Amino acid sequence: MKNSDINIRPLSHFYNMPLYESGESVIRGKENVVKLSANENMNGPCNEVLNQFAYYSKNIFEYPDSNHFALRRKIGEIHDIDPNRLICGAGSDEIIQLLCRCFCEKNDEVIYTEHGFLMYKLSALAAGAKPIEVKERNRTASVENICAAITAKTKMIFLANPNNPTGTMISETEVEELLRKIPDNILLVLDGAYSEYVDSCDGGISLVNKYGNLFVTRTFSKIFGLGGLRVGWGYGAREITDVLNSVRSPFNVSSLGLKMAELSIADVNFVNEQRELNRVNREALRNKLLGLGLKIDQSFANFLLLRFLSEEQANTIDLFLKKKGFILRKVGSYGLPKCLRLSIGNEEICEKLYLTLAEYFKKNERV
Ligand SMILES: Cc1ncc(COP(=O)(O)O)c(C=O)c1O
Repeated sequence: MKNSDINIRPLSHFYNMPLYESGESVIRGKENVVKLSANENMNGPCNEVLNQFAYYSKNIFEYPDSNHFALRRKIGEIHDIDPNRLICGAGSDEIIQLLCRCFCEKNDEVIYTEHGFLMYKLSALAAGAKPIEVKERNRTASVENICAAITAKTKMIFLANPNNPTGTMISETEVEELLRKIPDNILLVLDGAYSEYVDSCDGGISLVNKYGNLFVTRTFSKIFGLGGLRVGWGYGAREITDVLNSVRSPFNVSSLGLKMAELSIADVNFVNEQRELNRVNREALRNKLLGLGLKIDQSFANFLLLRFLSEEQANTIDLFLKKKGFILRKVGSYGLPKCLRLSIGNEEICEKLYLTLAEYFKKNERV
């Protein structure tokens, strides 16, 4: 059958849905590549996960607990929050999508920041709502600009803190300032996918009790090293999580995902260790790259955003690095065509990457 023979049409707001472009993960003709394109924790998950995975895999013939009871209880215990106000999802992506699907409709406006995580725009579009992009200041969210973009149609604001792909963040005081300034019928979704990488940061959890229109999302894909298992969670008013929980599919998170996430979040030492390791490697690499003349903002997450002179230079360097076996993330779709984002690897990987970039700048124009 030819495509033109198909007379089935999706809903009109899906006609021009852009695709989510994920970071590349292979280089054709090359083995043993170093993938620095998806902000994963290359050290992998904690030992308890590695030790128990095979044991729990024996039970995969059973459906998972659709109530996510054990994981919600463990998250509640670790963060000292009410498990009845939690929802677990197939990654925080699913929770972002559910929020738009459950609370936004046609003509509603969904605000996100200029270089904010792409799923906000895509999820708003998929709900038929209108995504509104708000300018940042020096690649950092601006409370003033967000407030200025609010209209009677605004339904939701997404803010990743730290943000991907910039790595920048605003302080808890500024987050609270935003909450004080916005009407209470607008939901602020604070995306804490990288909160665990920030010292003494609860990703806005403590503000949820004070502000009923704050919803916090988190993931097991980053510091916990469980990206392949797809587990995330959200926390907010019971009225919000109840709706999300009733709309999600009943078995949205796999049994292994639930169990491994439960083991991971219990290992507080692992998280502290990974945060410190990441900080040391990130700062050392950033300082060396600054020494090469590169422009890089202070990052609070497990990646750096490198800024080059031009899009052409960014593309040339991306190709050069690919030839050397490194996959970085192009971020043109985030409005940053002159930049490349790289995940922080271990000390050896960081050193190799630095030496490779140093080799490039020895032979080529400087930034
Ligand atoms: C800011 C931000 N939020 C959410 C996610 C989604 O993560 P996941 O669906 O794996 O939980 C990502 C993934 O890269 C992200 O960068």
